[in-house]
Amino acid sequence: MVRILLVDDEPSILSVLSSLLKKQGFDTQPALGAEKALACLRDESFDLMITDIRMQPINGLELLKKSKAMHPSMAVIMITAYGSVESAVEAMKVGAFDYVTKPFKVDELMITVQRALEYRRALSENQELKAQLQARYGFENVVAESPAMRKICNMIERVAPTDQTVLIGGESGVGKEVIAKAIHAHSARTQKNFVPINCAALPEPLLESELFGHVKGSFTGASSDKEGLFETAAGGTIFLDEIGSMSLNLQGKLLRVLQEKEIRRVGGTKQISVDARVLAASNENLEEMMVAGTFREDLYYRLSVIPLVIPPLRERPEDILPLVFHFIRLVSGNRAVMPEIAAEAQMALESYRWPGNVRELENAVRHACTFADDGKIQLDDLPARMLTNVDVKPATSERSPSGDLIGNHQGQSLKGFLREMEKSFITHSILQHGGDKEAAAKSLKVSLATLYRKLPDPEL
Ligand SMILES: Nc1ncnc2c1ncn2[C@@H]1O[C@H](COP(=O)(O)OP(=O)(O)OP(=O)(O)O)[C@@H](O)[C@H]1O
Ligand SMILES: [Mg+2]
Repeated sequence: MVRILLVDDEPSILSVLSSLLKKQGFDTQPALGAEKALACLRDESFDLMITDIRMQPINGLELLKKSKAMHPSMAVIMITAYGSVESAVEAMKVGAFDYVTKPFKVDELMITVQRALEYRRALSENQELKAQLQARYGFENVVAESPAMRKICNMIERVAPTDQTVLIGGESGVGKEVIAKAIHAHSARTQKNFVPINCAALPEPLLESELFGHVKGSFTGASSDKEGLFETAAGGTIFLDEIGSMSLNLQGKLLRVLQEKEIRRVGGTKQISVDARVLAASNENLEEMMVAGTFREDLYYRLSVIPLVIPPLRERPEDILPLVFHFIRLVSGNRAVMPEIAAEAQMALESYRWPGNVRELENAVRHACTFADDGKIQLDDLPARMLTNVDVKPATSERSPSGDLIGNHQGQSLKGFLREMEKSFITHSILQHGGDKEAAAKSLKVSLATLYRKLPDPEL
């Protein structure tokens, strides 16, 4: 039952208010003056407080401030005498929900009470929802709406607190580094360094000295001792990106470091113990490399204690629009108005294959936000490359079915391929009819309902 605390220093007003609200089915607690009210608030919580402003010795405004400190989510309605609205406005700035002026009409008061309670309900539901989401997918900066990504988030939650080595696989741009950072952020090492190193960016000798450090004079240019990244990452996490490009020689040295948890700086003799958690990523197929003899089997098994493979974006279309909105938010910052996306542009975004995955999508959103006029992203604000992709010819065209149309879909299931083709074809037809879905449905010889059902997003 909804509990309402009534505060006034006039007993007659208290009893009128109390009987009015009781008649409406509320449970009321009258308090004669602010001190009594504060005593009640110390003992229990209420959904709503209705208080007079002018009271002695503690006035309504003081009471409001103190009660908000104790119960921030309690709604508060102020009652003010006609002509002293200023203090009521002041009260709203401090967090009162609304005010009513005396003498008040019963209807007016009831409507305000209902609104205050609805607001409070929405607020607490929202907070609960947020807390639930945080608990389930407590990963800021990681958009994960698709079942596949949610599964990955669940796995991260479980592996992050351990010190296990994780090998993250997936095509370029799928978010391997994002996932590595999330693992670090959810581990006990979060206060220490997250140290990423791209193993493909440096030639072998330099990479070795980057990773393990070197001593003065160990090679030309080594003018002083230098700490390696394994040492920088002590107590934290080192992220070995593009591990597949590491030479066999260095792979052997890395394996020893992983086994012995000790490094030796280049040119040095001292063994230095290191406590860095190792995460590695590769967009190459390490199993194939193992078979070909270019990646050490023993290192592979050391690294892939826990393997995480992030699927390409085209296999998790549920993530596309949430990612688009995520990047729009990032691009537009705190700008009050976020650009909208025209339905055709949304369709194009959803039916595109995203060979460059999330990175390509991020660039497309930046491109679109730059060119969008009037706060709306239209189809032609998207990068031209995407628009040519939307323009997929129907299967009856002169284009050979064994051409690049098929080549782009290697490895995809028949069902997935057909669904994608269907989506592209429908999008194409809608575009050709200038966005008129009814006309498009007619030309496709399907009902409008079928067309909506088959659209990437039934909302469109
Ligand atoms: N799930 C996601 N939520 C939010 N942003 C993401 C997500 N996945 C990727 N991104 C963003 O996309 C971009 C590319 O991600 P990232 O650098 O992690 O990819 P990668 O797999 O490491 O790519 P590469 O193989 O090319 O190194 C980054 O800007 C990253 O912030
Ligand atoms: Mg990367």
